[in-house]
Amino acid sequence: MPAKSKRPAEKNGNGQSNSQLKKFFTDSLKDIYWAEKHLTKALPKMKKAATTEELKSAIEEHLTQTEEHVTRLEQVFELMGKKAQAKKCDAMEGLIKEGDSVVEETEEGSMTRDAGIIIAAQKVEHYEIATYGGLVQLAKTMGMDEAAGLLAQTLEEEKQTDQGLTEIAENNINWEAEQEEEKEK
Ligand SMILES: [Fe+2]
Repeated sequence: MPAKSKRPAEKNGNGQSNSQLKKFFTDSLKDIYWAEKHLTKALPKMKKAATTEELKSAIEEHLTQTEEHVTRLEQVFELMGKKAQAKKCDAMEGLIKEGDSVVEETEEGSMTRDAGIIIAAQKVEHYEIATYGGLVQLAKTMGMDEAAGLLAQTLEEEKQTDQGLTEIAENNINWEAEQEEEKEK
């Protein structure tokens, strides 16, 4: 790949070029594909551990969306003429582990646990927002408008989930958690 080439970027509209950026994009897709699939397994456990119905149903709703995110990624791979492939995402694995420790370290049935789960879930959402935000831009840059559109839909849902979680925390899980006494073990 000539570094000093002044040739304008090829805009062939289907992402079929074999640039370094294209390879990076594909690797990032594999990473987030693994992450979304991992999340579909983690969310039911998070839901089970949650205290309030509000948080349980927010997690349930996001599980349905996450399944759709997996499907959209498969569509993006297909648009690129590639088979959907997952590559382990260390970041998502770490974020889920952190969520598991929050559950372990908080009392069952407490509002503090919900406050903790919300923050853990928001860390996941922020990772996804950063990833999809970047991928949408790269897809646009490479002229892959259809892929960009699919990724942008997911990006929007991740942002809405993040906002929804903030609302649940503020009304009134955090406040109720603040009223909780520490129980002796
Ligand atoms: Fe997602």
